[in-house]
Amino acid sequence: MCGIVGFNGSLDAKEILIRGLEKLEYRGYDSAGIALLNENGVTVFKDKGRIAHLREIVDDQVEGTIGIGHTRWATHGEPNQVNAHPHQSASGRFTIVHNGVIENYYLLQREYLKDVPMKSDTDTEVIVQLVELFVNEGLSTEEAFRKAISLLHGSYAIALLDKEDLDTIYVAKNRSPLLIGVGEGFNVVASDALAMLQVTNQFIEIHDEEIVLVHKDKVEISTLDGQKIERNPYTVELDASDAEKGTYPHYMLKEMDEQPGVVRKIIQQYTNDAGELIVDEAILTALKNADRLYIIAAGTSYHAGLVGKQYFEKLACIPVEVHISSEFGYNIPLLSEKPLFIFISQSGETADSRQVLVKVKKMGHPTLTITNVAGSTLSREADYTLLLHAGPEIAVASTKAYIAQLAVLAIAAYVTGKSKGNQIDFDLKTELAIAANAIQSIVDSKEELHKISKEYLETTRNAFFIGRNIDYYVSLEGALKLKEISYIQAEGFAGGELKHGTIALIEKGTPVFALVTQEPVALNIRGNVKEVVTRGANACVISMEGLDEHDDRLVIPKVHQLLTPMVSVVPLQFISYYAALDRGCDVDKPRNLAKSVTVE
Ligand code: F6R
Repeated sequence: MCGIVGFNGSLDAKEILIRGLEKLEYRGYDSAGIALLNENGVTVFKDKGRIAHLREIVDDQVEGTIGIGHTRWATHGEPNQVNAHPHQSASGRFTIVHNGVIENYYLLQREYLKDVPMKSDTDTEVIVQLVELFVNEGLSTEEAFRKAISLLHGSYAIALLDKEDLDTIYVAKNRSPLLIGVGEGFNVVASDALAMLQVTNQFIEIHDEEIVLVHKDKVEISTLDGQKIERNPYTVELDASDAEKGTYPHYMLKEMDEQPGVVRKIIQQYTNDAGELIVDEAILTALKNADRLYIIAAGTSYHAGLVGKQYFEKLACIPVEVHISSEFGYNIPLLSEKPLFIFISQSGETADSRQVLVKVKKMGHPTLTITNVAGSTLSREADYTLLLHAGPEIAVASTKAYIAQLAVLAIAAYVTGKSKGNQIDFDLKTELAIAANAIQSIVDSKEELHKISKEYLETTRNAFFIGRNIDYYVSLEGALKLKEISYIQAEGFAGGELKHGTIALIEKGTPVFALVTQEPVALNIRGNVKEVVTRGANACVISMEGLDEHDDRLVIPKVHQLLTPMVSVVPLQFISYYAALDRGCDVDKPRNLAKSVTVE
């Protein structure tokens, strides 16, 4: 979490840094700050709150052609002005921004900085104080920076300014994302290319344990022990306007509206000239060679993985296990002989998933990342990547990426199954196109979805989502959407499991959303609806055409049985959106959350 930016050029850095931070706000929004350096010294503006507030407190008169900035998701130290980045050394000579967690900060403080009074409660301040200490002991800034970095354990993307050097941003990276953007007469630093697309689309990847000196006219990369590295920039194929919300009041609404288009784009991206669905040959071989797939993911991506298991088992006939990434690392199950690890991650940066990737790579197992972000850490570090092609997802609550994950998983499983000669009696391309149309018809019924949201959620403190079979996984996702943006306590349950405990929570008026899209279990889930209604629940049945009954609250268009999650999740997303909106919540930036979770 947290986002950092830096600019070194001949223009005033202020506006570029603030605009960059606006693009990174999805990474955390507890506090924000910038530091601007010029011949008169360094000026820091920072405070608790969002970038909009930072804009208000930055003095227009202060300029600097070199500067750094930060938007924070608090880990160490409460979100307040003092703990906001940038942080400065005791004398004010050095100024730093940092994304990540320094696990040994306390030990370093005890060992090296006993006599230095700390101004903040952050782990970050230790780094900048160490640099100053080592400079005071006689090292150059670069030597001191290297020495300080080599003492750190943990994750970091760091940018540091030295008041006495108007031409260098000192940069270091380990396990936190970081890119260097290059331009004519300037160079930039960013946690995500989106932040600096405003000035360049040429970026250089920085690897773990590398140090970079970012000057106005050159970028010097080296390993921690000083070996020089030459690395060429690549072009980021993103249109800056993809990451704008345009006339939409919220990114989440825009991203939900984009969902039919995302499915269509994926069909196109995964179709060859002969009109057949394909995946890259090397990936297909890896999938076919595996005797078991291990899907590793977190949050919404984990929910997509649960559906993906069904796809791979039913279409490709490969057994699948799905694991929450933060649990897997210390709880590794007995592995099969030829496992393939699949990491599903919208951002491609989730630290919990990455620590598993690092472990299984060390064990020598092949790895595949399914991500929305080309060039992200998980994509770079896995053997293979399948891209989601959903376009930037900015709202913290994932919507279009989930739909894209389902579509790509379905295609990968289908193509694998076909290539193994499995009996598959439907054409996935056609079925995905039908699903895209079905999603469109739900997107077009916003008014009705808003009404449903008001009807069931206006005053409630809690809500339940139930389903059976594949609908169960969607109910987990529906509950996550509702709780994360509206703060209504919500739980997803397997319909049959309610009676084993949770039904005790049902009382008069408790909203229960029930999904009925799976023919073999339709009667069973309707039985569960009866059970909760008998106990006073306010049941909202969302069924699929062909399985509907006259008093169902919403009937969604019929799609292939395996693709129902892609469609049934959409009303749940909208209902959650409206519930959050009506409660005055910050839909795109819910409290305590960040889009890209880069701490374990
Ligand atoms: C929920 C949500 C999160 C993410 C999770 C994993 O709406 O967005 O639960 O799904 O943090 O993130 P990625 O997919 O980037 O690894």
